[in-house]
Amino acid sequence: MLAGKSVTLIIGGGIAAYKCLELIRLLRREGAKVVPVLTRAATEFVTPMSVAALAGTHVYQNLFDLKDEAEMGHIQLSRRSDLLVVAPATADLMAKMAGGHADDLGSTLLMATDKPVLIAPAMNLRMWDHPATQRNLAQLQADGISIIGPNSGDMACGEYGPGRMSEPEEILATIAARLQKRPLAGKRILVTSGPTHEPIDPVRYIANRSSGAQGTALAVALRDLGADVVFVTGPAQIPPPQGVTVHKVETAIEMLDAVERALPADAAIFAAAVADWRVTDASLSKIKKTAQGSPNIMFSENPDILATVASHALRPALVVGFAAETETVVTHAQAKRARKGCDWIVANDVSAASGIMGGSENAIHLITADSVEDWPRLPKAEVARRLAARISQALT
Ligand code: C5P
Repeated sequence: MLAGKSVTLIIGGGIAAYKCLELIRLLRREGAKVVPVLTRAATEFVTPMSVAALAGTHVYQNLFDLKDEAEMGHIQLSRRSDLLVVAPATADLMAKMAGGHADDLGSTLLMATDKPVLIAPAMNLRMWDHPATQRNLAQLQADGISIIGPNSGDMACGEYGPGRMSEPEEILATIAARLQKRPLAGKRILVTSGPTHEPIDPVRYIANRSSGAQGTALAVALRDLGADVVFVTGPAQIPPPQGVTVHKVETAIEMLDAVERALPADAAIFAAAVADWRVTDASLSKIKKTAQGSPNIMFSENPDILATVASHALRPALVVGFAAETETVVTHAQAKRARKGCDWIVANDVSAASGIMGGSENAIHLITADSVEDWPRLPKAEVARRLAARISQALT
């Protein structure tokens, strides 16, 4: 399955490092060459001897090991592989990656590489939930790094929750999917993302709470399947991913313009939370407080970008809308699918209690012409990967 492929496996210092021994065995069974790199902390959990024995090769450990540098240097080491995998990705390794540190061999390889990177986080659940880790995770996702897991379950520290590293078989499957197939190669896919800002005057605007996280994750997942992604984004909280064509817009009217310019496309995915209304005749100067009381703001309806594209002369073969609802999610979304003329609706509950808008997880219903699928609550990156796989099935 992976014959001729080379994977650099950077093993971090966590109890889950023992699973890497099995991962190495599985990768080699599939024909991949494994180049193992141990961080200093990793050697506290697995020995270089056992890693070398399973990998059947030298184990790299030290940035300043002159013999290794003379042999190939960290740049070649990081570029000779088809994929870099970090497992377990500890909180510390994730922080280093997010911050661009390069103070040991593993972190330097990650900075020097031009190859895709997959990380398998593993840590105590409180470390995983810590705002610093979640901030680093968002940064890594935005940098185009693929993430697998962590899973929920019993932890070595005696607690229960998210933080367990994905199992070796799961990591192998992700690596195989990443290296084997680029089923969307040659397909042009448009993705809208983020909120829109509708000006009231030069300093004030109307917006919504969309972070852009789901749209960004979707662009990454589609890119990873080989698609040529055109990413039209409103002012999102997270930066757009690498490796896609980015068009930044502010308002719904600008977004429609950028979307129409991006056609034709094979598919269009409308993950943006577009404002339904804009302020009619936004003031060109700052509105002042006056004795007459508060200003009377008039609204006009924004163009519906999804509906416009769904009935466009250049309509893509697959048009997917999102529906953020706070009640009777599926019924509203089904009606929306019919009204807007799109093929699928990805519906989710964005009531405050769901914690989805602005959060790291999503629980969606995929509504097609003849079915409704209720997906479990998953990290947004995983929802994106599964949606991208479905889009790929539909287009190929
Ligand atoms: O806001 P609403 O629930 O109607 O959004 C559903 C879908 O329609 C989303 O995919 C959104 O991106 C899209 N939409 C749009 N233009 C608008 C409003 C929504 O494309 N003006």
